[in-house]
Amino acid sequence: MSTKGRYTITAALPYTNGPIHIGHLAGVYVPADIYSRYLRITGNDVAFICGSDEHGAAIPMRAKKEGVSPQVIIDKYHTIIKKSFHDFGITFDNYSRTSASIHHETASEFFKKMYEDGKFIEETSEQLYDPEADQFLADRFVTGTCPKCGNEEAYGDQCENCGSTLSATELINPKSTISGAEPILKQTKHWFLPLDQYEDFLREWVLVGHKKDWKTNVYGQIKSWVDDGLRPRAVTRDLDWGIPVPVEGAEGKVLYVWFDAPIGYISSTKEWAQREGKDWEPYWKDKDTKLVHFIGKDNIVFHCIIFPSMLKAEGSYILPENVPANEFLNLEGNKLSTSKNWAVWLHEYLEDFPNKQDVLRYALTANAPETKDNDFTWKDFQARNNNELVAIFGNFINRVVVLTNKYYDGVIPAPAAFSEIDQQTLAELKAYPAVISSSIERYRFREASQELMNVARLGNKYLADEEPWKTIKTDEDRTKTVLYVALQIASALATLSEPFLPFTSTKLKGILSVTPSGVEGSVETQWNEISTKEILLPTGHQIGKGELLFSKIEDTEIQKQLEKLEATKKANQAENNTVEPQKDTATFEDFTKLDMRIGTIIEAEKMPKAKKLLVLKVDTGINIRTIVSGIAEHFSPEEVVGKKVTVLVNLAPRKLRGVESEGMILMTENPEGKIVFLNPDEDEVNAGAVVS
Ligand code: MF3
Ligand code: ZN
Repeated sequence: MSTKGRYTITAALPYTNGPIHIGHLAGVYVPADIYSRYLRITGNDVAFICGSDEHGAAIPMRAKKEGVSPQVIIDKYHTIIKKSFHDFGITFDNYSRTSASIHHETASEFFKKMYEDGKFIEETSEQLYDPEADQFLADRFVTGTCPKCGNEEAYGDQCENCGSTLSATELINPKSTISGAEPILKQTKHWFLPLDQYEDFLREWVLVGHKKDWKTNVYGQIKSWVDDGLRPRAVTRDLDWGIPVPVEGAEGKVLYVWFDAPIGYISSTKEWAQREGKDWEPYWKDKDTKLVHFIGKDNIVFHCIIFPSMLKAEGSYILPENVPANEFLNLEGNKLSTSKNWAVWLHEYLEDFPNKQDVLRYALTANAPETKDNDFTWKDFQARNNNELVAIFGNFINRVVVLTNKYYDGVIPAPAAFSEIDQQTLAELKAYPAVISSSIERYRFREASQELMNVARLGNKYLADEEPWKTIKTDEDRTKTVLYVALQIASALATLSEPFLPFTSTKLKGILSVTPSGVEGSVETQWNEISTKEILLPTGHQIGKGELLFSKIEDTEIQKQLEKLEATKKANQAENNTVEPQKDTATFEDFTKLDMRIGTIIEAEKMPKAKKLLVLKVDTGINIRTIVSGIAEHFSPEEVVGKKVTVLVNLAPRKLRGVESEGMILMTENPEGKIVFLNPDEDEVNAGAVVS
């Protein structure tokens, strides 16, 4: 059991450019809420902090598309998101937003302090500039070909294909996303955080200090960043959406969104403290405070490298105790995607499944992407509800409550002597708080949720074995004892379920007529008391009437959800079916310059550390050569060996991740986005045959 402590728990600030979906809930907000609730009910001082991230570059872009101001976009989604969190019982102590003045002040001060202490490097360099739109093109405002993997739709800050971090000037054939114009280079001054100077600090603090207690996925990512060598990183941008850079000579520049957003945790804490009449500083500056960041894996570098370096540079802050980042959740086998509408939106879920927040919380926790990406399926959701929540948890509670009412008018009977089974069952029950605590404290929420279900299983099995509905005819004392024991389990469940199934826990406490602790005569069981107290619900206590905690989800309801997704798929396909316009005329000479041959793939292996790339050995008839191809997410190496393909053999060789690629395999996409090769349907065509 944890000793009483002070915790600052943060959950990644969501961007306000769309509503939130199950992926957000599963990856960040439900685990953070379980953790916070658990710490509160075990007597800790908790500040659970979040807010909207309103300076992301996608926000003005979306605003432009919709022909409204960015303010309209952030107001709309801030409201929707805040409501979704509230509806799903996410108990933030404060939900702020980075457009709030307290945040602008806090972030500006933070920057100024670092600036005055000489923590930045000032550098004038050439940046991409859109001559038509008359503005610099930061990050997402420019797309082009990734120099590392050849993806033609890489962004100015990152290639989503190979995951590399880029700077906009590295892109090949850059294009402005604002006007489509080809950018020119123009001089501009920026402030950089010299991350290279923090390498030793980061090594000491994380790579040595947290080797044992941080999740391996998190640790591994940090290690590879640090081992690759850190470079200075610009913390200002030429944009008009964001927090103005608070120093002279920085007109028209704003703080980089990833500089200001994590400071949002601090400003949100301040806002909360002001409202509650508390002092915010201990929550960020007292070394006994445990700071924990809940995030998704795409945020690791920002929370484990950049923000800690900022905190260190500023000098007066504590560093995170842990950053339990989760992997990603998929939906029915495909990546969740806001733009493709491939998601279960929280506000829509509640329309279809009103009052079933706990079911989603449970299904997402039981199947959380803690150590690897995981798939959400509606079938699994239904099974978690019908086979676990209804058949085990709900069934147990229902039987205890109905029988107590039926036999004893809802008054808890006095037990006779306990049998060995009774004693064993009660002893087992006493062990659970420590088991569940240990899982939660190690951020293993899946495991914790299963242990909770095991408590209900214990109760269910006990009733099934002891059959009070039979003994009532033969042995009054035995029946009283069995119901008494079962009611102790029910009482423990009401407490233990609170972090996971808060709505159910409240309902169950109501059914058991448990007044909140602190009120005179309260019989509410505290987490620790389950192990220490002999009697949780005393003889003579009057419980309420039964009420079903969960109800079965029918096949038709699941079918409806699957059909909704099917319709989304069709709509996306229809959109993708729009035929691209014909390109400019190519002369015959242009065409004959291209040397295309039939080749055979004879070997294939995955490129280490690159999700999308396969390294192929292809027999082109001319020779056997290496070709790196971005098909690893569509084919396993085994699948492609032996395939005949069309190869552009005289493409200038290019190094991808250090491997020289000598040619390109021609392919196309089917409407579902799956890659297909262009191969001859005649088997007799030999490697080396010319395509013309
Ligand atoms: N808005 C970011 C995202 O959704 C997360 C910001 S977390 C914070 O990926 F640290 F910046 F607050
Ligand atoms: Zn790339």
